Amino acid sequence: MNDTVENVKGYYGKQLRSKANLRSNSCCCAEGPSEEVRRILPLIADEILDRFYGCESPLPPLSEGMTVLYLGCGTGRDVYIASKLVGESGRVIGVDMTAEQIETAAKYRDEQRERFGRKTSNVQFLQGYIEDLK
Ligand SMILES: C[S@@+](CC[C@H](N)C(=O)[O-])C[C@H]1O[C@@H](n2cnc3c(N)ncnc32)[C@H](O)[C@@H]1O
Repeated sequence: MNDTVENVKGYYGKQLRSKANLRSNSCCCAEGPSEEVRRILPLIADEILDRFYGCESPLPPLSEGMTVLYLGCGTGRDVYIASKLVGESGRVIGVDMTAEQIETAAKYRDEQRERFGRKTSNVQFLQGYIEDLK
């Protein structure tokens, strides 16, 4: 992989410890989270919320039973929100190239399953490059 990719991985994986360290505020959404997302946020673990580096959750609210592939999922906040939205009959696969973030995301798989009151998790995290999903 090239230097740019390695720099991006280093930024998200090693330099950033929380969203307070972000070196840009270019990622923001004026409207804030949707009503559906706002209801789910209190169910998400603090560390996942604190390490959210995205620009809100572009997730359709009526997605029961769907399969969601989330590319560049980071530490998984939106993956877990999607997990709640798709329900037990749906599933969510989060992909990110940064090992540290995938590790953090996956650490909460069982805890989030419990927080959502489910018997099985419908979430899977995979470390990989968006350009090379095979
Ligand atoms: C702006 S951050 C957003 C992370 C996450 N969606 C969130 O909301 O916290 C962009 C993410 O994309 C990942 N990423 C960037 N380029 C990638 C690529 N080519 N393949 C896989 N992941 C990539 C980075 O590792 C980083 O976690």
